[in-house]
Amino acid sequence: MLFDENNYTDEYMETEDGKFPYRAYRGIIFADKPVDGFHTMNIYAPSAYYRGESINGYTLKTVPIFMPNSVGGYFPCSTDEPCQSNTIRLALLHGYVVASPAIRGRTLKDKDGKNCGKAPACIVDYKAAVRYLHRFAELIPGDDKKIVTNGTSAGGALSCLMGVTGNHPDYEKYFGEIGVDSGDDSVFTASCYCPITNLDHADCAHEWQFDGIYDYHRSEMYMSEGGRPIFTPVDGMMDDMRIRISKEESALFPAYLNSLNLKDENGKALTLDENGNGSFKEYVKSVILSSAQKALDKGEDLSRQGWLTVKEGKAVAMDFKGFAADITRMKLAPAFDDVTMTSPENHLFGDRDNDFAHFTQYSAAHSSVNVITADKRVIKLLNPMYYIGDERAKTAKHFRIRHGECDRDTSIAISAILTLKLKEIGCNVDYASPWNIPHAGDYDLDELFAWIDDICVN
Ligand code: DHB
Repeated sequence: MLFDENNYTDEYMETEDGKFPYRAYRGIIFADKPVDGFHTMNIYAPSAYYRGESINGYTLKTVPIFMPNSVGGYFPCSTDEPCQSNTIRLALLHGYVVASPAIRGRTLKDKDGKNCGKAPACIVDYKAAVRYLHRFAELIPGDDKKIVTNGTSAGGALSCLMGVTGNHPDYEKYFGEIGVDSGDDSVFTASCYCPITNLDHADCAHEWQFDGIYDYHRSEMYMSEGGRPIFTPVDGMMDDMRIRISKEESALFPAYLNSLNLKDENGKALTLDENGNGSFKEYVKSVILSSAQKALDKGEDLSRQGWLTVKEGKAVAMDFKGFAADITRMKLAPAFDDVTMTSPENHLFGDRDNDFAHFTQYSAAHSSVNVITADKRVIKLLNPMYYIGDERAKTAKHFRIRHGECDRDTSIAISAILTLKLKEIGCNVDYASPWNIPHAGDYDLDELFAWIDDICVN
């Protein structure tokens, strides 16, 4: 579908300083064979650019295109609107052009009742939207060489994949189904909040962090009759089977970690011994310690954290298991490829005819149910780790990765590994584990926007 530059509405947002006008291009269809309600995108641009004005030094043709996805839980997401104090509104007020795509997700069915949003649909759709931005770059506001993806959790994983796998031929065969021609799907920068990624190694990483802690604490959401979400705390203890799985998964992690040949910034090897101790663990601790240090420098009282040693205002040491016990376990083992098919990821890796699938050898071998195992090629398409350093990928130069200090949805090892690998191939990665932040995103947009502006200028 061609981009019609005259098909927009003039709108405005109320701000403390008066009205902020913008152009809204809604319902742009970016595939020739769209699935109902999907393959559409909204684009918003501050009107000031059309009057020849600049904002923060940007003009209509130089301003970055900020491209947040609203995917959560690997569910489908629709296009989003600027409202209240949401990310799109704040990005527009900052001067960015914002592109908001709808993306298929794991629960979606086609008219025949078949699944049509299982992996890799989510990443294919995000890429298809980017192809459209590049293809019609002359007509679309903003600089298509400055596309910045952003997302949280499953959405953070997708943003990361966008950054790593630009133009990789592995994805090509999926574009035909939705009527999208080959094209450029590379992006400039990926902003990734708590990415739920590296799914086929996330179980052992999780148990490396949480083994020995067998009580779990989470809240589950139910819909009330009035359609309001109600959160109920669920606390429990893992049974013997889950405890055995935790120990076995935890024992698998050192071999995986060592196979990555990770190095720190000084070229020192980061490894683990068979008990899960070693220089990689010290590196992960250093990430948490620098988070604690920032909090201390802001004058926060960290005396409640018994696992942390503070001497003369400096966070000098920590007990890793004490830290894990303090933030508590949320997920039972195995945390992602569940042996009873209760995880969002089991559902993600289903296919057209199967709702659920395994995606690790371990869980397939220890399964309590009779289900398929996902195609290796599909598992690969969802994991950026396999593409870092692949010359056929046009990888972004810049990444910003955040994993909150008390996030328990996946192990902090996952974002640490991702960061180290990206740095190894020369990417500029801004990585941190902000203090007292749970599984969340977009909580520091001022900082994110300042970082984007900095890399756009330099
Ligand atoms: C999300 C959170 C999870 O814990 C998970 O396993 C998958 C997705 C999310 O919030 O998107």
